This record gives sequence, structure tokens and C-alpha cells, in this order.
Amino acid sequence: MNVYIRSIGAYIPENRVTNDELSKTMDTSDEWIKSHTGIEVRHIAADGVTTSDMAVSAAKLALERGGLTAEDLDMIILTTATPDYIGFPATACVVQDKLGAKNAGAFDMVAGCTGFIYAVDNAKNMILAGTAKHVLIVSSESLTKISNMEDRDTAVLFGDGAGAVIVSESSNDESSIENAILKSDGSGAEVLMRKIGGVKYPFEDGKTTFNDTALYMDGQAVYKFAVKVNTELIKELLERSNLSIDDISWIVPHQANIRILQAAAKRLRIPLEKFYFNLMEYANTSSASIPIALNEMYEKGEMKRGDKILLTGFGAGLTYGGTIIKW
Ligand code: UT7
Repeated sequence: MNVYIRSIGAYIPENRVTNDELSKTMDTSDEWIKSHTGIEVRHIAADGVTTSDMAVSAAKLALERGGLTAEDLDMIILTTATPDYIGFPATACVVQDKLGAKNAGAFDMVAGCTGFIYAVDNAKNMILAGTAKHVLIVSSESLTKISNMEDRDTAVLFGDGAGAVIVSESSNDESSIENAILKSDGSGAEVLMRKIGGVKYPFEDGKTTFNDTALYMDGQAVYKFAVKVNTELIKELLERSNLSIDDISWIVPHQANIRILQAAAKRLRIPLEKFYFNLMEYANTSSASIPIALNEMYEKGEMKRGDKILLTGFGAGLTYGGTIIKW
């Protein structure tokens, strides 16, 4: 039996905010943001639109394109850093209810921006083990809702959106999910986090402000980590799979910062044209960034069935990982 990505969908909020617009309310500029990150625009979900709302829109499109109904799903894996509720219940359960996926189990997977890659391997293994036939993976992120708009170090980097895939069993090997590497380094737990509000640093009545609970990042620490692990992941995935870079049609990385990928490409002597980027338009949408990029490639006809695509990600945890899919 083989396991493959059957279909894909995404949801992008309509509200498009350019760097110039941001610089009207913050001490920043289009020139700084573009030259330090490659980002030009981000999309921002309206007030009242939740992570589960965006997830449902992306999931409905993936189901429709896959010729399935919500009742065909056996499992929903939702990846996010911005759940509808703190801790519990899982946002996946909210999505299960909104979709009417009455035969599905549902849980959230917390692996930072690497969440989609972790979920793809887990979905594959659930199908191989016979636990499920059709798994919905939906990565949905409302990062602008947890951003401190007074912190220019982070507020300019993130956007909102969702991407979804249906993972199914297949009787042929035209398309498949192949090798994966899933890793972590928890010594970096506090370089990328929401500090206040958990058990370690609880809310304090009358003292805790919204900005205490917002996304915090030591950008330079994450940058160094990201260049190192992206380089390692690409090299190791190719070696493990007995492939050369010429066998790969596209590398689709987590869309965080174009400079991270330029540095990794240079170290590996891989032409930058092998990498698919759309962070210019969407900024960093954490675990949603890879499925949003794959969906865009699908809609633009940039990949055809059988193409080998290498995915890499890194993020809060710290986590990192990669996988090769035959589309
Ligand atoms: O998915 C999560 C993964 N996260 C990431 O991938 C982020 C990884 N890190 C990065 O991408 C980069 O470290 C950043 C884009 C966050 C920062 O770029 P940098 O080249 O490392 O800048 P820096 O932190 O060294 O700051 C350089 C200068 C500082 O000013 P001074 O101290 O030199 O006067 C900052 O205050 O740039 C200033 N700065 C800004 N200026 C204008 C920082 N943010 C901004 C801003 N606009 N938005």
C-alpha cells in the first residue's frame, strides 16, 4: 500500500497590508523589511475570524478537490501556534464539528512552523498502520492576533492564513509520501515563544498585559539555527533517499526569510531557482506557509503528478524537519 497527498486547498484573508502601510503606524520601512526578509505584503484575518474558521475554508476546498465529503475523513490533524482556545479544547475538534466530519478523530499537533511536516509523516503512518484511510491535515495560523504591534522586531514578519491537504491510501506508486526527518532542540524553547499565560509563567491579575502574552522571538538566534538546519536537512534527505538535487523539481521551504534560504542555497551550491518562494506576498504564516505555497504552485500549474518535491521547515520548539513527496 502507498500513501499520497490526494488534494490541497488554502484560505488567504482578503485584507492585504503592504510594508508601506505598516510603516505608517510603526517605526519601520519598506526598504528595511524587504532587504532583511524579502517580505512585501501580509494578509490579515478580520476581527472575529478564528483559526478554525480559516481552517474550515481551506479544508472544504481540499475535500472538494479530492472528491470526498467530510464524512469520509477518519482523522483531522490541525497544526497551529494560535489555537481558538488556550491549551484545550483542540481547535481540530472545533473544525471537526464545523465540517460535520462525524466519523473523524481530531487533535492538534504543536510543532511550531514545522507542524505541517510533522503532520504529513504522522498521517502517512496512521494510514500505513490501518488506523485511517483519509486524513485531513490543516495548518491554520492567526499570527497577527498574537503579535505585539509595538515590537517592530516581530510585528512586520508574520501573516495569517491556512493550508490543507487530504492524505489517502493509494494502490499505485505514481504519487507518494517518501522519507522524512523530524527533529527538535528544546534547549532553544525560549528563543521563540509566547511567554506569559502557561503554567511556567502564569497570568498575574491586574499585571499581565496583552503584549506580555504576545509572540516573542530572538531573531538572530533563530536565524543562525535556521541556516544550519536547512542546510543539514536538504543534504541528509537527499542522501537518505539516494537522490541528487537534479532529481528534485522544487524545494518548498518554510517561508520565513529569503536570506535564510539564500544562505543555505549558497552553502549547498543549489541554484536559488530550485526554491519556491511566496513569502513576498504572505509573510511568515508559520506551519501554514508550506501548504499555502504548495496550493499556490498547484493552482499555477507549477507542479505535476510524479514531481519530487522536498519540503523543509523549522520553528518554535525548536523543531525542524523535512520530507520528500512525489506529488
Ligand atoms: O517561523 C519563525 C522563524 N523565524 C525566523 O525565521 C526569523 C529568523 N530571523 C530573522 O529573520 C532575522 O533575524 C530578522 C529579520 C528577525 C532580523 O534581521 P537582522 O538582520 O538579524 O536584524 P537585527 O535583529 O540584527 O537588527 C538590525 C537593526 C537593529 O537596529 P540597530 O540596533 O542596528 O540600530 C534593529 O533595531 O534593525 C533594526 N530593526 C528594524 N528596523 C526597521 C529590527 N526590526 C526592524 C524593523 N524596521 N521592522
